[in-house]
Amino acid sequence: MSSIIDTVSWLAPDGSAHFQWTEQTDLTGGRLRIIDQRKLPESLVYLDIDSIEDACEAIQTLAVRGAPAIGCAAGLALAAAAGRIAAENTEDFFRRLREYSERLGTSRPTAVNLSWALNRCMNHLEKRQTLPVPELKRELLKEALGILEEDIALCDRIGEYGAGLLHDGMGILTHCNAGALATGGCGTALAPIYAAMRKGMRIKVYADETRPLFQGSRLTAWELQRAGADVTVLCDNMAAQLMREGRIQAVIVGADRIAANGDTANKIGTCGTAILAYYHHIPFYVAAPYSTFDLSLKDGSEIPIEQRDPREVTEFSGKQTAPAGVKVCNPAFDVTPQELIRAFITDRGIIRPPFPDAENRI
Ligand code: MRU
Repeated sequence: MSSIIDTVSWLAPDGSAHFQWTEQTDLTGGRLRIIDQRKLPESLVYLDIDSIEDACEAIQTLAVRGAPAIGCAAGLALAAAAGRIAAENTEDFFRRLREYSERLGTSRPTAVNLSWALNRCMNHLEKRQTLPVPELKRELLKEALGILEEDIALCDRIGEYGAGLLHDGMGILTHCNAGALATGGCGTALAPIYAAMRKGMRIKVYADETRPLFQGSRLTAWELQRAGADVTVLCDNMAAQLMREGRIQAVIVGADRIAANGDTANKIGTCGTAILAYYHHIPFYVAAPYSTFDLSLKDGSEIPIEQRDPREVTEFSGKQTAPAGVKVCNPAFDVTPQELIRAFITDRGIIRPPFPDAENRI
């Protein structure tokens, strides 16, 4: 077993990478090992993925979640499943692979990084159709590892650009988890905070707990605490009060998909937080890599919004918290209109829409 990329070592006390690719000694194929985020913060355990069924289940149940992390996982899971295809010929291999890619691509609808990563892998292979199947499998793995390595670098660049907006003593509110757990590297929204900490700035981070699945309190607080950050958890409905008290100087969130006009889909509750920030004259930033921009969509109304199981709302920790049979809404994401967003912190700099005019930087 070998771990291929060692990154964000604070996540695992034994220094294991967040994403690990492991090859079996009998060469039966590789497998992806990830942190099982469903188990955090109680326990840090890993999950092995070597089939499309495993990968779809891991993505749908949020064992791996966060837009860039879903993309990284999808590429490597496709490579693991492809390694196990016993194909008679190249056509047979491509037929099975396309079927796998389509199944994976529909496992969650909102984060564009999922289809972006799968398309990138498939396009890479389509250009090499004449290669023998074992070579195609190697090429697929190379591309999937390339996506992961690139994501690590993108996060670092977002961190550097974003840190330029921060100053010592600032209070920053974030929503959901857009940190190391949500990417291949050190995060998007949290990357500027980690970079600022490395520069010696004291940043006070406020993490919305993020109902209904608590990615803020379970994941953001967990990883920030492990990194030695000053982190405070609050319920989602407390942000306005903290803003009124002058404790928050900026809001930074991640994104699942950004339309051409800048409208941004992110975890449910993000739009409400942006409205609060606007009212209190607090800058609201979205941090995201180029892979999260979907310039094929004119505006946010075209972004598909995932609707999840009502039990996420009516139950807490296996206990019923609403009357049986009550009607429930459970959209997993909302769209923040671009006019509420001060700027986008990207791997290519701090930008504003219209993006294609922003020196073609996206
Ligand atoms: O449902 P989740 O946990 O996958 O939602 C994640 C988010 O909304 C994140 O903020 C977003 O993916 C950005 S991750 C860098």
